[in-house]
Amino acid sequence: MTDLIPEFLWGAATAAHQVEGNNVNSDWWRRERLLPGVLQPSGDANDSYHRYPEDMRLLADAGLNAYRFSLEWSRIEPVEGGFSAAALAHYRRMIDLAISLGLTPVVTLHHFTVPLWFADLGGWHGPRAIELFERYTRTVAGILHDVPWVCTINEPNVLVEMHKLDQLIDLPADFDIAAALDAPGPRPLPDVGFGRILIAAHHAARAALRETVDARVGWTVAMQALEPTPGNEEKFFEARHAWEDVYLEGSHGDDFIGVQSYTSQTVDEHGVVSHPPHPDNTLTGWAYRPDALGIALRRAWEAGGGIPLVVTENGIATSDDERRIRYTTEALRHLTAAVADGIDVRGYIHWSALDNYEWGQWQPTFGLIAVDRVTFARAPKPSLYWLGRVSRSNGASL
Ligand code: BGC
Repeated sequence: MTDLIPEFLWGAATAAHQVEGNNVNSDWWRRERLLPGVLQPSGDANDSYHRYPEDMRLLADAGLNAYRFSLEWSRIEPVEGGFSAAALAHYRRMIDLAISLGLTPVVTLHHFTVPLWFADLGGWHGPRAIELFERYTRTVAGILHDVPWVCTINEPNVLVEMHKLDQLIDLPADFDIAAALDAPGPRPLPDVGFGRILIAAHHAARAALRETVDARVGWTVAMQALEPTPGNEEKFFEARHAWEDVYLEGSHGDDFIGVQSYTSQTVDEHGVVSHPPHPDNTLTGWAYRPDALGIALRRAWEAGGGIPLVVTENGIATSDDERRIRYTTEALRHLTAAVADGIDVRGYIHWSALDNYEWGQWQPTFGLIAVDRVTFARAPKPSLYWLGRVSRSNGASL
C-alpha cells in the first residue's frame, strides 16, 4: 500500500527535437551547424516522427499509463503566421494513439526549440515574442481538447542558460571553447530579466488555453536541489532565487507545477559549485543524488504555495541499467515519503522513454529503451519493465 492517488500518472517523457529527427526549421538545428566542434548534430535523432507508434506501444505494453511529449513549434508554424495543417494532424494522431493505448497524454508546447523565423525576430527578446507564442498556443489549443495536462514551457530556467551557447558563435578561430566550457569555478547566475519574459509568455499561454481547453495548465521547472555550505546561506538564497524561486512564483495561479530533478549542488561563498569529479558521477558528470527528488518536491510545494505537483522528469544518464533501477527506486522512495508528509504529487514521469539526443551529445543515455542509431531498432531495457511493474502496482511493488 502506498498513499498515492489511484489515478497517479506513471509515465515516461521525450521532447520533439531530441527524438523526432531532421528538425531542420528550428533554432537548435542551426545552432548545431554553427557550433560543430561543440555540439554533435541531432540528424535523424530516433526517427520518432515516424516511429512514435512503436515508442508508445512499448510504454503501454510495459504497463505505463502516461506519455509526456512535446509539440514542435517549428513544424507547426514553419513560416510566420503560416500554420501546417499536416503537422497539427500529426500531433493530433499522437494524442489519439496515446489515449487509445491507455497512455494519458501530457503535452508540452515548447521544449527548448523555436522556429528559425522566430529566432530571427530576436527570439524571446524580440518585441512580439509573447504575442507570437500566444498565437501559436491558440492554434495548438485546437488539437488539445481532451488532453488533461499541458505544460506551456519546459524548464524556462534551463532555456535561459542554454541561450548562453549562442555567445560561442563567431568567436575568434583560436578561441579554446572546450577549455572555456570546462573552466572550473562558479558560473554567473541565470538572467532573471530573461526569465521574466518567459513568465509573461507562460501567463499569456495559460490564459489562451483556459479560454478553450479544460486541461490542467502548468509549466516545468528544473529544480536544482541546492544546499548551502556552512556560513553561505545568503549566497544560497541568492542562487536559489535566480535558479528556481522566480519560476516557482511564476507558477502561482497554475493548476500544477512540473518538477524536474536529477541531482543536487552545493552553494559556497562564490555561488553554485560545479560537480566535483567523483567515480559515482553519472554520464552527464552530475553527482549521483536520487534524494534530490525529495528536496525538489518539498521546495516546489513550499514555494508554489501548495499547487499540486507532477514529476515531469527524473532519471539518470548511465550505461548500467541496474544502476538506473537503483537510482529510480531510491528517488521514488523520496517521492512516497514526501506524499506521506502530505505533499500533493499527482504523477511520476521518467526521463526518458528513449536514449536520445542530449542537447549536443549522444553519449549520455537516459532511456528506458535503447535505440540503434543506424537501424532505429528499439531495444527495451529491464528498467522499462521494472517501471511498468511499479506502475501496475501503483508503487506498492517498490
Ligand atoms: C530537459 C531534457 C534533458 C534532460 C537531461 C532536462 O533539462 O528537459 O530535455 O534531456 O533534462 O539533461
